[in-house]
Amino acid sequence: MEYKVKDKSLAPRGRLQIEWAEKHMPVLMLIRERFSKDKPLKGIRVGAVLHVTKETAVLVKTLKASGAEVYLAASNPLSTQDEVAAALVEEGIHVYAWRGQTSDEYYWCIRQVAEAEPHVVIDDGADLHAMLHKEYEDIARRIKGGTEETTTGVVRLRALEREGKLLYPVIAVNDAYTKYLFDNRYGTGQSTIDGILRATNILLAGKKVVVAGYGWVGRGIAMRARGMGARVIVTEVDPIRALEAVMDGFDVMPMKEAVKIGEVFITATGNKDVITREHFMLMKDGVVLANAGHFNVEISVKDLEEIAVSKREIRPYVTEYKLPNGKRLYLLAEGRLVNLVAAEGHPSEVMDMSFANQALSVEYIVKNPRQQPRVYRVPREIDENVARLKLKTMNIEIDELTPEQKKYLESWSLGT
Ligand SMILES: NC(=O)c1ccc[n+]([C@@H]2O[C@H](COP(=O)([O-])OP(=O)(O)OC[C@H]3O[C@@H](n4cnc5c(N)ncnc54)[C@H](O)[C@@H]3O)[C@@H](O)[C@H]2O)c1
Repeated sequence: MEYKVKDKSLAPRGRLQIEWAEKHMPVLMLIRERFSKDKPLKGIRVGAVLHVTKETAVLVKTLKASGAEVYLAASNPLSTQDEVAAALVEEGIHVYAWRGQTSDEYYWCIRQVAEAEPHVVIDDGADLHAMLHKEYEDIARRIKGGTEETTTGVVRLRALEREGKLLYPVIAVNDAYTKYLFDNRYGTGQSTIDGILRATNILLAGKKVVVAGYGWVGRGIAMRARGMGARVIVTEVDPIRALEAVMDGFDVMPMKEAVKIGEVFITATGNKDVITREHFMLMKDGVVLANAGHFNVEISVKDLEEIAVSKREIRPYVTEYKLPNGKRLYLLAEGRLVNLVAAEGHPSEVMDMSFANQALSVEYIVKNPRQQPRVYRVPREIDENVARLKLKTMNIEIDELTPEQKKYLESWSLGT
């Protein structure tokens, strides 16, 4: 079997990590139970590009249990948990991933997945989708369908669809309610703070924390930072979201004002050049810079490299840049996803829902072939089913509509 990981002897540690995640992902484990019996993916080759974490391991083991052959590469050069990658090789997964890849190595790994000629593809950030469309059109045309895990990937796929160039149907898993309302908000909210604290061990109470972007990720981070006693400032470009942030009780101002005040900056926009040269020069001494958005383009590392007079690593994932004005700025995780690089990514409990959507969407693609090549939402039944199962595993019951209530809600003629 073909694979490439850092060190296969790490597998026993990886197996324990995966076991720990399985214990906290009951919905996906219920799906695995059904998949193991019904084998809905028998004979299907799945190509996946995801952060190679213990939670991803639970997903790919579930796909394998359903009869699929799985090829897996990392969706970020710094996020792979090497012990998990090793354990997955022992499970018979074709893994091409290790922590600390160069850009060339990163794309080489994704290429191995593309060249496996998958029937179904799962991606996080759309680098696999993009490679298939740019370089492997013949293979892409034979793909039954794909899924996409994150906001940035969905944005890229919608652009491909708008240009009429999308070659296979894609389910935007990110846009399921049981994904973004929980994973983007509570998952990233908690794990981003976790990453910043593990990297720096700074006290958040009383700190002025600037969060760029008040989308699902940004609001989760802002909420959790406030919960730890930080004074949170939000920057936005969307007037509606800016207004939400104001009414949620945050200070809102342009970045060029926030840079004079902030002590910790966290970007979560999915956009580029949110913090650039002009901002760095106005910042206070000792500022911490972290990114939670998908790519390492939100904080301009290029600008920082260019203007800095010196640079050194202070502790793992903390790089100090000295500016010409004598001030020192501390960039975490090279400007890449701080929660995955400096911590372990989202807690298993939220990935339980995101990856339940992934598993059920892959099954849906296989059972519903020949859809038009468009970007689709996760079918409502799947989304609701995931929520229902999650509540069940949390031992929480809810009310049900009576037939009279159902009728009332569907009629227009009944008033006071
Ligand atoms: N770290 C993780 O584990 C993780 C998890 C989920 C999503 N993500 C990524 O986080 C990013 C944000 O995702 P989301 O779901 O919150 O998206 P979203 O579209 O809900 O929110 C992004 C927000 O950023 C704002 N924005 C855009 N440009 C801006 C700028 N220059 N300055 C200030 N605000 C700006 C937008 O108006 C929007 O409100 C994406 O790249 C997504 O892929 C990361």
